[in-house]
Amino acid sequence: MDEHHFYVTTPIYYVNDKPHIGHAYTTILADVLARYNRSLDVPTYFLTGTDEHGQKVQKAAEKRGIPPKQHCDETVVAFQELWKKLGITNDFFIRTTQDNHVAVVQEVLQKLFDSGDIYKKDYDGWYCVGDERFYTEKDLVDGKCPDCGREVTKLVESNYFFRMSKYQDWLINYIETHPDFILPAFRANETLGFLRKPLEDLCISRPKSRLSWGIELPFDRDYVCYVWFDALLNYVSAVGYLRDDGRFARWWPASCQLIGKDILTTHSVYWTTMLKAMDVPLPKTIFAHGWWLIGNTKMSKSLGNVVNPMEMVEKYGVDAFRYFLLSEMTPGQDASFTEDVFVTRYNSDLANDLGNFLSRVIKLTIRSCNGTVPAAGEKLPEDLEFEKTAMDAVGVMEDSLREMKIDRGLDAVLNIARAGNRYFELTKPWKLAKDGDTARLNTVLNVAAGALFRSAVLLSPVMPGKMAELGAALGYSEAEFAACRIAGLRTMLDPVTGRTIADTAGLFPRVEQAPVPEAKPAKAEKKAVSGAVPEGVKLISIEDFCKTRLKTAKVLSAEPVEGADKLLKLQIDLGSEQRQLVAGIAKFYTPEEVTGRTIVVVANLQPAVIRGVPSQGMLLAAKAGKTLRLLAVDGDMIPGADIG
Ligand code: ME8
Ligand code: MG
Repeated sequence: MDEHHFYVTTPIYYVNDKPHIGHAYTTILADVLARYNRSLDVPTYFLTGTDEHGQKVQKAAEKRGIPPKQHCDETVVAFQELWKKLGITNDFFIRTTQDNHVAVVQEVLQKLFDSGDIYKKDYDGWYCVGDERFYTEKDLVDGKCPDCGREVTKLVESNYFFRMSKYQDWLINYIETHPDFILPAFRANETLGFLRKPLEDLCISRPKSRLSWGIELPFDRDYVCYVWFDALLNYVSAVGYLRDDGRFARWWPASCQLIGKDILTTHSVYWTTMLKAMDVPLPKTIFAHGWWLIGNTKMSKSLGNVVNPMEMVEKYGVDAFRYFLLSEMTPGQDASFTEDVFVTRYNSDLANDLGNFLSRVIKLTIRSCNGTVPAAGEKLPEDLEFEKTAMDAVGVMEDSLREMKIDRGLDAVLNIARAGNRYFELTKPWKLAKDGDTARLNTVLNVAAGALFRSAVLLSPVMPGKMAELGAALGYSEAEFAACRIAGLRTMLDPVTGRTIADTAGLFPRVEQAPVPEAKPAKAEKKAVSGAVPEGVKLISIEDFCKTRLKTAKVLSAEPVEGADKLLKLQIDLGSEQRQLVAGIAKFYTPEEVTGRTIVVVANLQPAVIRGVPSQGMLLAAKAGKTLRLLAVDGDMIPGADIG
């Protein structure tokens, strides 16, 4: 594939149930990647769809008392409608019941049967209906499914197998020699860990007597194909595999196959060995993102905490929803969803930082320049510095896309607005207007409007609707704004002079934070908590607190500590000195992710030696359940600043 193509896929979702926030996240992430690539003038193909065969779907249909195909036809609508509401720009929607897909799967099965990579043998083992996965006795944990913990069923039957074991050594070597293949890197390690045990052949058939809802094996009509073997092939059948060589060569290998961490093995092991047996090149990257938790708990039907994306969209709007999902989750790590966190981020980033900046630019231009953006005069260092912040965000966004750190790219764009608000505090354009300093006022407004325009283009893949509105407020017609690409931002020197500004009645109105319900003390505790302090918490004085010297520090570099998979060794800049500290954050941050960050450290901690490595100080982080987040300050700050 020519490097200049971008083919992105999502998992195809089971149609046994309605879509939830997890499905919405993967699909929005793919959409944002697709939109950014298009905006960078990279030819792009974006695929999503539904996984419609197998036991789960058959059971769901049986429960409703309707034929499985009818169940699929009805359930798929919920996905397609949601994607429409969420502004998803997929180029194709594949359903595994489509004729072309079925025929391609059968041809692949036949080909592998003919080449000897599929063979028949008696099977004796365990099966998890929920996951549609086979397990051997030793895979089981306490006699239950090692993956989901549910009951497993004993199975003895004749089946067809894919000779996966044959490719084990090749796969290990491939992963070891292709660092970009499975990302984040710790997921590649997880796969390599899995591959340390002998790889078994994969059972790829189900006797029709047990399961009829599937693709018939072309060489044995008594069987249907295992749903994963069928489903994985969607990624190639959708782009012309065995049908249109030109189209297939144009898009395959995929650039980025997005999955959740739940389906890592099926992709990193099943899918890759299948492709090898088919003699088809492997995707450039399989990227496994983390889990959306509700608060600190897993989302599950039985807990009744499943978030319906449609409700969030109706309440807060599609763009705010898209922005939240992308800015709150660092791809690869888990993130926590609560409405409270949502509203906090919305208010601080969108209503406050961006909303304030844009309303200042718009209102001042209308009030002081009759609504037309003036040309700039001579620029002072503060003007050039602010322009540089806006221009630099383009590069940061490009890097963050390449490194799948979109949250960081978004932060750089939001920093334009934050810097813009500071720029206004510094230059005081309202005062310039009052004092009649038109020359200086014109320059400030021109620089600010230019930065706002750049922010709008950079944010438009994430918030297409709102940013088109912002474009319109800056005097761009819908078509004109749509034609503005990130690829052109660097050469577009003055995008705003002479544009007619239109007022926007608050693009991001502030949302009232729902009051956090007062925790009701349990009966037994009631008497004890007359004051605000729960029992057992010892109060300290301000002097006690001041004994702890907290400071900001910049992480200069980071590396793993050999033999300690939880630890990272950091070199930090404390302003007046450089230090080394060891922190137990390796499970949550990669060295690259912490490098360059400004963190908060305890600067007067007695030095310690941790696993043989000297550590001078301790960093601060918030931890809840399996989530850990580094403490940071709200905006730019020099290293070594006092905190308190
Ligand atoms: O596994 N947080 O389909 P599926 C983040 N049909 N993402 C989540 C999530 C959560 N809490 N819950 C689900 C299947 N997802 C197969 C795939 S591909 C050839 C076949 C997302 O309906 C995430 O992308 O169970 C996860 O991998 C996917 O939904 C699983 O969807
Ligand atoms: Mg699932």
